[in-house]
Parts: sequence; C-alpha cells; structure tokens
Amino acid sequence: MTSNELRTKYIEFFKSKGHAEISGQSLIPENDPSVLFTTAGMHPLVPYLLGETHPAGTRLTDYQKCVRTGDIDEVGDPSHLTCFEMLGNWSLGDYFKKDSIAFSYEFLTSPKWLALDPKKISVTVFAGDENAPRDEEAAQIWKDNGMPEDKIAYLPASDNWWAAGPTGPCGPDTEIFYWVGEGLPPQGSNKGTDSANWMEIWNNVFMQYNRVDEKTLVPLPKQNVDTGMGLERTNCILQGKTSVYLTEVFQPIIHTIETLSDYTYGTDAEKDKSVRIIADHSRSAVFILGDQKGCVPSNVGAGYVLRRLIRRAVRHGMKLGIDKDFLSEIAATVVENFKAPYPELEQNREKIFKELTAEEAKFRTTLKKGEAEFQKLLPNLMKNPKKIISGKVAYNLYETYGYPLELTEELGAENGFTVDVEGFKEAEKKHQEASKTVDAGKAKGGLAEQSDVTTKYHTATHLLQQALVNVLGDQVAQKGSNITNERMRFDFTFERPMTPEEVKKVEEIVNEKIKEDLPVTMQVMPLDKAKASGARALFTNKYGEDVKVYTIGRDVENDWFSKEVCGGPHVQHTAQIGDFKIQKEQSSSAGVRRIRAVISGGLPLDPQ
Ligand code: ALA
Repeated sequence: MTSNELRTKYIEFFKSKGHAEISGQSLIPENDPSVLFTTAGMHPLVPYLLGETHPAGTRLTDYQKCVRTGDIDEVGDPSHLTCFEMLGNWSLGDYFKKDSIAFSYEFLTSPKWLALDPKKISVTVFAGDENAPRDEEAAQIWKDNGMPEDKIAYLPASDNWWAAGPTGPCGPDTEIFYWVGEGLPPQGSNKGTDSANWMEIWNNVFMQYNRVDEKTLVPLPKQNVDTGMGLERTNCILQGKTSVYLTEVFQPIIHTIETLSDYTYGTDAEKDKSVRIIADHSRSAVFILGDQKGCVPSNVGAGYVLRRLIRRAVRHGMKLGIDKDFLSEIAATVVENFKAPYPELEQNREKIFKELTAEEAKFRTTLKKGEAEFQKLLPNLMKNPKKIISGKVAYNLYETYGYPLELTEELGAENGFTVDVEGFKEAEKKHQEASKTVDAGKAKGGLAEQSDVTTKYHTATHLLQQALVNVLGDQVAQKGSNITNERMRFDFTFERPMTPEEVKKVEEIVNEKIKEDLPVTMQVMPLDKAKASGARALFTNKYGEDVKVYTIGRDVENDWFSKEVCGGPHVQHTAQIGDFKIQKEQSSSAGVRRIRAVISGGLPLDPQ
C-alpha cells in the first residue's frame, strides 16, 4: 500500500461509517495568535469542538497538512518530521468512546482495510488524576474488541491527556501503538513496559473539557471525539520499513539529493542525517511557501520558522558538498509528488521556486562570511579549556554577520564546543534586539480562547474588509488576520500606503455599519452556491462542499453589506461590536498592507 492509497482508504472507511469528508485547511491558522502553524488535524475545528455547529454535520473526516517545529533540533533522526499529514475523524457530540475505538480497531485490523496483525497492536489509556478519573470505560471497550489485558497500559496525563495548547478543548485519550521490534512482541509487552519498540500511530482524544485557564477545566456542552493518525508513520509500518525516509513519501526526494550530492544514502551515518534534514526541511518549506495563505521568509513568526528551515537545509547541503543553489530542484520533486492531494503546491509553484532561490542565495552569502569569521576565531576559542563559546561571541556572529545562533551551536558542536545560550540572550537584550527573532522559532502550543471579545473582533474584520474594498477597490484581498483580546490585525493586498483620508473613510464606514446595528445571519450552502450569491471565499474548500456563509445586512439576498464564507463564530448584530478605531496602517511585506485596529464598548453578546 502506498501513502496515497492509505489516505484514500482512511477517508473511504470513515465515509462508510457516516462521516462527511471535509477539506483540510491552511497551514497558517486563522484568528489564532497563539500558534504559528496548524499542528494537528483538530486545529481548524476548534470552534466546532467548542460548540459551533459544523455545516457538514456531526461526523467528519479529512486529511490535514501539519507543521510542528517545537523539536526542530531533533529532526534528522529516522522518525521525526517537521511537516506531516494527519488523517482524522471527528464526532461533534455524536458517537463517543465505544464507536471511536471500534472504528479504529476495525480499520487497522480488518482484512478489508489495513489488515494489521492484532498481535502487534497495543494501547494506552488514561490512568486518572485530579482532573478526570481512570478511564476504565475505554479499557473495557478495548477488551470487548478483543484487546488482551496485558496490552493495555494505564499511563498518566503526560502520555494520555491531549490538549492543543494551554487553553482550549482537551481530554483524556487512548493511543494506539504498533510493534516495531523484532518478531512478535513478548508476552506482557506494551508501551508502559517497552517504550522504544512500540510506535504510536493513532491517537483518539475524548474531548469533553475546555481548559479556560491554568486552574479551570469546564465540561464542554458536548462529548466530542478527535482522532489523529500519522500518515507517514502508518505508511511506514504498512510497508514494513524501519524509517519514514525509506518509504515512497521521501524516496524521490532522497534520490534527488543523492543526484545533487553524488552521495549514496545509507553509507555514512553523519551524512545520512544531513540527507534526512534536507529532505524534511525542504519538504516543509515547500508546503509553507505553497500554502493557500503561505508566508515568505522573514525575521518574525512563521516567516522566521520558514527561514530557519531553509537555512538549515542549505547548510546541510553544503555539508554534503553541494555547492550550488539546489533547493528549487528538490522543490520540483516535492511539488510533483504532492500536488495531487495538495493542488495549491502546483498553483504556487512559481512563488515557491522564486522565494527558495532568493533565500538560498541570501543565506549562502551570510554563511560564507560567518563561517570564515568563525574559523578566524577558532584558534583563540581553542584556548578556552571549558570549550564554551561565550554569548557575546555568538551574538557578535549573529549581529555582524547574520550568522544564526543555532548554526553557531552546530558549528561549535562539530568542534567540541557548547554555546552559552543564556549569555547570547543577554547580549541580545542589551542590544535591544527583539528577542522574538530567536523565540519565534519555537511554535508554542496554545489555542485562542473563543471569548466574546475575540468574537466581536472577528465580525469587525468582515466589516473592515468590505469597507476596504469599497474605498480602495477590488484589488484588496485578505492575506491573513490575527486577533487577540486586545486588538486585531488585518493584512491585505494593496500596492501603496493608504492616505490618511482613506484610513478615515474606512473607519467611518465600519462605525456606520456598527451603528446601523445590522443583523448577522449564518446560512449553510455548497461552496459554489455561496460564491454565486456573492460571498467572498478563500480557496480552502472543495467545490460543492457545504460551507457556512455569514451575511451582515438586513436581507441576505437583497440588502447586505458583507457576505463571507467563514467558520464563525460572530456577533448576532453589529451594535455588539462597539467603537472601531484604526490605530495603524503600515507595510507588512511587498504588496501587502497591515491594519491594526481596536474596538471598545459594544453591547454584550446574546447567551447561546
Ligand atoms: N489531536 C490529536 C493529536 O494530534 C488527535 O494527537
């Protein structure tokens, strides 16, 4: 079975169990300032897990591209990936533990589906703590499905409680593991007794709580199920391979690297690691650049993560002796192999190549200067018996030559040095550099709470977008928005700075629509119909798929101001938003402007 077949089978199986297939979404989360990337299949579904109704119903399935860069430094071993696909199925207050477990077990073991050997499967369930009891129910359901007692491990919250971040929907989970050791697992072996030889392939989360803050866990209105199966890992075990990099997902990329470097994968451990890093990072970079809402390399946020991925790939390319620009050649292979499930890669092909080439060239210049400087420093550094590179030296390489800390660490490690990272940070602070350029690389988990304030901001972005179109014209298109409890940011395509009069006019229109207290109406309809009715939509859904349309106006057909395809939630009527004020209009990147605005006052939202 190939990964394409696995993806198709998964969706087909859950469709046969009454699930609607929905589209995976962008890698850049909408209206969620707490994460840089979509890190799990459930991310785009947070509003629905919290109680919004989903237009496709209560049983959903999809495949979702994800990026997790928290452990970027671990990438290079045979199993960690920064970009991966998650196959998922959800119950929004529909079925719960019993069906969820039965579905998973059937899909994995039935000869009609994956036909995995049940003897090689073991599971974990939540052991219980002050938040929730031991999950005897899940354990019993596993036993009822034929799972032997000794293959069920009860583990604490660190293993069996899943949350996307410090706040948001969460709950106990049951995880499914496959034996990757020799032969059959010995009697009594499970994840609790032998964590090395059991590889996690699927996680079924019983999402029944919302974490509001550190101390408060409130039950959700409905008992949901959120599952995620790692496509690359499951594919790997189905093919009996020992590493995801040996499967057809990565082999074409690795062949391209082999050709470029004249090195044969599998002959040198250190070089193999470089090959894996290049393969992983270039795939991630292509997915991020080729995303519907893709960003470009920069020094902050998601753009900085992208820059780090590209730069690390280039450096490992150099280690393999590739001394010309090569990322666009790998990108061609990635686009070719993934454009079927992810057509946006093909649509953004030009942009991907252009940005990769530009960033690569820029970085090569930086690297040459930085490494030469490092070599110059080396004799002096060698005199230090503790083999520590001071924060000041590392910071100087960064500040003067643009040489990144993580590369100084790597270069240092190759020569037996460690870097005083704390010292680096202090030096950075002293120079009043924005520390976010270093920290932003670590995508912290965390989901925006869906508070009333963020809901109000959300509706305000719809008003703002329409007002911008009215004042500036049709070339205005949303490039992203970001909402916190304190402010909103809205990025849109426009070639020049707005004049103060234009800013004022836009602000006036939004406030006028708020004062008119227009009703906000939600309708569900297929995407093509929504577009035909004049609704604005980003290209993140399939033609014909049911979507929610939010209309702001007195009459959804004949008298409306704004109409957008959107997941919600929104206010019920515009007077709930309050006063709207634009604080800043500035450049965001080439051809993209950014507005920062705040709201205040406003009527309370109606109770749900
Ligand atoms: N949301 C769960 C995970 O990512 C399924 O593991």
